Amino acid sequence: MAAAGPDTPRILVTRKMMPDAEKRISSLFRATLNPDDRPMSRDEIVEKAKDYDGILLTSFDKLGPEFIPALPASIRIIATHSVGYDHLSIPQAKAKGIAVTNTPGVLTDATADIALLLILGAARGASWGDRMVREDRWGETTLVSPMGYDVSGKRLGILGMGRIGQAVAKRAKAFGMEIHYHSRRPVAEAQGARYHATFEAMLPHCDFLSINCASTAETRGIVNAKTLALLPEGAIVVNTARGDIVDDDALISALSSGKLAAAGLDVFKGEPKIDPRYRSLDNVFLLPHIGSATPGTRSAMAHKCIDNLVQFFRGETPTDLLTGD
Ligand code: DGY
Repeated sequence: MAAAGPDTPRILVTRKMMPDAEKRISSLFRATLNPDDRPMSRDEIVEKAKDYDGILLTSFDKLGPEFIPALPASIRIIATHSVGYDHLSIPQAKAKGIAVTNTPGVLTDATADIALLLILGAARGASWGDRMVREDRWGETTLVSPMGYDVSGKRLGILGMGRIGQAVAKRAKAFGMEIHYHSRRPVAEAQGARYHATFEAMLPHCDFLSINCASTAETRGIVNAKTLALLPEGAIVVNTARGDIVDDDALISALSSGKLAAAGLDVFKGEPKIDPRYRSLDNVFLLPHIGSATPGTRSAMAHKCIDNLVQFFRGETPTDLLTGD
């Protein structure tokens, strides 16, 4: 595809990307980049969109359900720089004839690594331990306090055994954990993990619960007071998927009462404006949604978006075209 001709598709890129990807998209399309990485509001993206054929956006953009209906007819494709696409409605896009693509596969390992970091960090006190050293409180350590919790030999329940769930299972097995999982159906690649047909049936078997499912109408709020009550006393919950899968009131109450020993969270409902109560809990290990944040992974995600755009404007079906809801 030759760049900069009058027929070259115009792409609006909402956020700053890795330099190699910015160079490539500029060589293939009439692309408008966001070099200062200034977040754009939904209305601003919609207003600009009339001068473009496609938008490369992210799950960090605050779009809401009004976004797709408000887009001008010029927009034919949205490539989201994320594997999750809960910020976009595929049925709405389909109704307007807009193709939507995502970036599966390339962030699996990086995200699974962060899930393990959360499991280990929440269990072994990465957050409070780090604070003790920074605040010069090392002298408070004794043979009996502070203490973390063992990971080896414990049972890990994985909610959502897709690519990332499977990669978490593989890593957790190497730490000597016994793996359980719940997905809509059993998966062939479960590597000996025990399947539970319902989320509720799995919970009593989880010393640790790792949330790795997509945020959908079915899973939003599924980790709530009723389901948390089914976990063993002192269980640990980690989330690298989406914040709205968890009911914050229920999680915070379980962490405060001691029902849960700890939690590790990389994602939050309404992020970056998180429930402020998390900040004052000592038994939570908090990260700012960095599951895919390595240069190699973010670059691969951006190139996947570009590959999908190239295929689309060549008249081919993009590899990562989303068809469900
Ligand atoms: C994803 O790709 O969905 C990550 O959570 C970043 O948004």
